[in-house]
Amino acid sequence: TPVAILLSGRGSNATALITAAQDPDFPARICLVLSNNPDAPGLDMARAAGLPTLAIDHRSFGKDRAAHERAIHAALEDSGAQAVCLAGYMRLLTPYLTTAWAGRMLNIHPSLLPSFPGLHTHERALAAGVRLHGCTVHLVTEGMDEGPILGQAAVPVLPGDTPDLLAARVLQQEHGLYPLALRHFLTQNPATAPNGAALVVA
Ligand code: GRF
Repeated sequence: TPVAILLSGRGSNATALITAAQDPDFPARICLVLSNNPDAPGLDMARAAGLPTLAIDHRSFGKDRAAHERAIHAALEDSGAQAVCLAGYMRLLTPYLTTAWAGRMLNIHPSLLPSFPGLHTHERALAAGVRLHGCTVHLVTEGMDEGPILGQAAVPVLPGDTPDLLAARVLQQEHGLYPLALRHFLTQNPATAPNGAALVVA
C-alpha cells in the first residue's frame, strides 16, 4: 500500500517507518515524504534513503491555510498515497484535510491519550505525577489528538526523570509502535475492527 509521510522536523519516526517499509513483507511502501518546512532534517534523511520528497512551505501561502492544505492534498493524491502518516507534523489540520483523509490518516502523539493532548506532554506528565506515560498512534479526526486509538506503548516514569529523559524513553517506544500500528492498520479487516484494534507493545 502506498503511504505518504508528513513531517516538520527531525523525522526520527519517519525514519522508523521508512526502515520498516524496506522489509518486503511490510504492507506499506513509502511513496512520498512531504514537509511544510523546507529545512526539515527529516526531508534530507528521506532524500538520502532515495525516496521522493517535497517541501510545501506554509509561509509561501501567507495566512491562507486552505490553499496550503489544497496544495498538500494535491501532492498526496499525485503520489498515489492511500494512507498518510503524520510524523512530527507540527501544523494543525483543518477539516478540509481531515475530511479528505478520514480513516486513512494516522498520527503519533507522545502521551497515553486521552491524557495530555497537545504540546509539552512530557513536562505535563511529570507535573501531573503520573507513574506511566507513553505514546499513542491514532486516526486523525478534526479534534486535535482525538481520533480512534490504534495502538499505545507505555513506559514508566522513573525517579529523577526530566522532560528530556522521559521524552527519550517515550521516543524509543514511538519508533517501535508506529510501524507496528501501521502494519496492523493496513492489514486489519475494517469490518471487524471499525474503531481500530488495541495494540500494546512492552
Ligand atoms: C514525536 O515525539 C512525535 O510523537 C510528535 O512529534 C515528535 C516528532 O519527532 N508528534 P520526530 O520528528 O519523529 O523525530
